[in-house]
Amino acid sequence: MHVFHLSSAEETHALGHALGRVARAGVVVALHGELGAGKTTFSQGVGHGLGVKKPIVSPTFILMTEYDDGRLPMLHADAYRLDAHEVPDMGLDEALEVWAGVALVEWASRVSEHLPAEYLSIHFRHTGAGRTAEVHAKGDLHSAVMTDWTQQYGV
Ligand SMILES: Nc1ncnc2c1ncn2[C@@H]1O[C@H](COP(=O)(O)OP(=O)(O)OP(=O)(O)O)[C@@H](O)[C@H]1O
Ligand SMILES: [Mg+2]
Repeated sequence: MHVFHLSSAEETHALGHALGRVARAGVVVALHGELGAGKTTFSQGVGHGLGVKKPIVSPTFILMTEYDDGRLPMLHADAYRLDAHEVPDMGLDEALEVWAGVALVEWASRVSEHLPAEYLSIHFRHTGAGRTAEVHAKGDLHSAVMTDWTQQYGV
């Protein structure tokens, strides 16, 4: 477990950027936190770190977006507007099973039954004007990536 203190949106972006630099195929990132906590800002940083050139927009209304122009393909999903009965139709389980890149899921707790057994979870919380990000790794791949990530970020 690791807690990052992020005093600005730029720091949230930089934390994501560091993960994008070291992420490996098969990394799944479950993003938690209330409205405006920084999940999309972080995801934009990951995309930037992967070298994605296309603008990374909030996928809230389109549920899943793929970005294929970076070092690894990136899948960005947002479960905020989903009702539980809609999740099977969204195809998230199938997408994550075969995804040979990095996958980020905003509002992951809404689709927790549809996530794989191993992932990085990040809980963003408001602290005054800034945020904290509490990160947990499940499984060998994600633990190894977390080590690389904290080194890359410089902690
Ligand atoms: N560490 C930070 N300190 C201050 N502001 C931040 C920080 N990180 C992100 N922000 C700002 O918070 C706002 C909301 O961020 P963002 O859209 O990433 O949140 P979100 O968790 O994706 O929200 P939603 O649940 O609506 O999808 C943005 O204006 C962003 O610049
Ligand atoms: Mg968002």
